[in-house]
Amino acid sequence: MAFIVCEPCIKCKYTDCVSVCPVACFKEGANMLIIDPDECIDCGVCVDECPVTAIFPEEEVPEKWHDFIALNAKYSSDWPTIEAAKDPMDTAEDFKSVENKRDQFIAAPAE
Ligand code: SF4
Ligand code: F3S
Repeated sequence: MAFIVCEPCIKCKYTDCVSVCPVACFKEGANMLIIDPDECIDCGVCVDECPVTAIFPEEEVPEKWHDFIALNAKYSSDWPTIEAAKDPMDTAEDFKSVENKRDQFIAAPAE
């Protein structure tokens, strides 16, 4: 089991989650973060930190976002680790409440 970052993170990257993770298992893509399932210790403290409710335990990921379980695993080895919180993306305010923004996902790692 691991915790999973889902669609609401796209184009937001608030990074509040990063500042509380005890094992630095968040990875940074161009416009969302994911959790490395091999490193996550399932402590759950990141869940309530996310202002857009993007993080769920694997068994509680909403059906509509089940593909994010594989997405988190897929990019964990390619994307760099992010160990400190930083400012949200410039697009965060406009996209924090947008639904169905999956087509905006960028598979590239953060620069
Ligand atoms: Fe980090 Fe704990 Fe969240 Fe896993 S559940 S990503 S270990 S804060
Ligand atoms: Fe994303 Fe929420 Fe963390 S928006 S970067 S999962 S605080």
